[in-house]
Amino acid sequence: MERVAKFLKEAETYYLATVDGDQPRVRPFGTVNVFEGKLYIQTGKVKDVSKQIHANPKVELCAFKSGEWLRVAGKLIEDDRREARQAMLDAYPNLRAMYSEDDGNTEVFYLKDATATFSSFTKEPEVVKF
Ligand SMILES: Cc1cc2nc3c(=O)[nH]c(=O)nc-3n(C[C@H](O)[C@H](O)[C@H](O)COP(=O)(O)O)c2cc1C
Repeated sequence: MERVAKFLKEAETYYLATVDGDQPRVRPFGTVNVFEGKLYIQTGKVKDVSKQIHANPKVELCAFKSGEWLRVAGKLIEDDRREARQAMLDAYPNLRAMYSEDDGNTEVFYLKDATATFSSFTKEPEVVKF
């Protein structure tokens, strides 16, 4: 899992796909935080992406860096504890311009039952589950 978090941080941007009825949706994301041994992402409840995750927590994300790409499929579980939100905002202080722990909008999710696949054109894929 640490390897996945490191890759996503170094890639800086990953693309998070959700399910919206029978329509896939995808958008750029950047937040990644390891808290209590789990990999968290952050969004805002007002966003469509949040509504889609609450309706169907199955997601996949993809990032590319230095000839290697990573896909992670799994479920996103909301952690509604203030300390989980705080850990995320402490990791991304710039987000505090738009978000705070107690604004009723900020939310964090951790990945559960995740399968991460590291791929490149030159090696066999490597699969990590967490
Ligand atoms: C590089 C980059 C990183 C981003 N990271 C995040 C993020 O971590 N969380 C988030 O909620 N939005 C992030 N955004 C903004 C979302 O992509 C944007 O709000 C998007 O429209 C949300 O998807 P939706 O319209 O389906 O709700 C980021 C945008 C960019 C360009």
